[in-house]
Amino acid sequence: MPTAPVIAASSELRSAIAAARAAGKRIGVVPTMGALHEGHLSLVEACCAECGITVVTIFVNPTQFGPGEDYQRYPRTMERDLKLLSQYPVDLVFAPAVEAMYPPGSDTHVEVGIGQSWEGQHRAGHFRGVATIVLKLFNLVTPDVAFFGQKDYQQTLVVRHLVRDLDLPVEIRVCPTVREADGLAMSSRNAYLSTADRQRARILSQSLRVAEQLFAAGERRTAVIEKQMQELLASEPNISVQYAIVAHPQTLGLLHEIGEEGAVALVAAKVGTTRLIDNTLLGRPID
Ligand code: PAF
Repeated sequence: MPTAPVIAASSELRSAIAAARAAGKRIGVVPTMGALHEGHLSLVEACCAECGITVVTIFVNPTQFGPGEDYQRYPRTMERDLKLLSQYPVDLVFAPAVEAMYPPGSDTHVEVGIGQSWEGQHRAGHFRGVATIVLKLFNLVTPDVAFFGQKDYQQTLVVRHLVRDLDLPVEIRVCPTVREADGLAMSSRNAYLSTADRQRARILSQSLRVAEQLFAAGERRTAVIEKQMQELLASEPNISVQYAIVAHPQTLGLLHEIGEEGAVALVAAKVGTTRLIDNTLLGRPID
C-alpha cells in the first residue's frame, strides 16, 4: 500500500477530517509516540477494521516525561514507522512538531484522579502529560473511536475517566497486550535492554502468569497472590521491583479478596536502567 500522507499542521489535519466527516466516515485514531511495534500495529489493524478513516498520531510528548527520564533518547524512527504503517490502509499520519503542540505560553493541563496512584507515584506528572496530550489530540482529530493497548493499563483508565468526566464524544477501545514469544510485553522501551537485561525482563510476565495460575486454581486472597508474585520477582536479583500488586480493576485500590468484579495484577520494575510495566486481568475480560 502507498504510505499515508504525513501531516504536521493542525489546520491541514482539520480540513482532512472535515472532508472525511462530510463524507459520513467513522473516524478512528491510534495515538502513538512512534517507535512502532506489533502492539501498535494490532491497534492500527483494529482501527482500520472498524473505521472509515484511520488516523495514526506520532508525537513524542515531552510533558509526559519526568526530569531525568528518557525523553531525549526515546527512539524516533519515523521512516521505519511509515513503512510499517504502509501495510495497513491508514489514511493519515499526524506528526506535529513540539512547538506546534505546546507553543510558548501554553499553561493548561488536565489532571485525572485515577492517575495519582501506582505509575503516578513513581512518575510524578506523567499522567497529567498523557491526559493533556490525549485531550489535545482528540480535539484536533475529533475521532469517533480511539484505540489504546492494555499494556498501559492505568493509562487506559486515565483516558476512560478523561472521556467520561469531560464529556468527550469518543469511544475507547482497549486491545490485548501483544507479547514476544517468551512472554515479554512489547514496548518501544524494550529496545533499551542489553542482552542480559532482555533475559531478566522475562520475569515480569512470568510473575503475572503465577498470578493467573493461582487465580485459575481458585485463590482469591490477594496477599497470597502478591506474595508469590513478589517471591518470583525477588529470585531475579538484578532487577528493582517498584510494585507487584493485585488491585481493583477499575479503581486500582488494593483488595483483600478478589470478588465478582475481578482484579488486575500490575507489575513495574527497573531492569538495568530501563523501567518496564506489565499487567494481567484476573477474572474479567478487557472492556
Ligand atoms: O501510550 C502512548 O504511547 C502515549 O502515552 C500516548 C497515549 C500516545 C500519549 O502520548
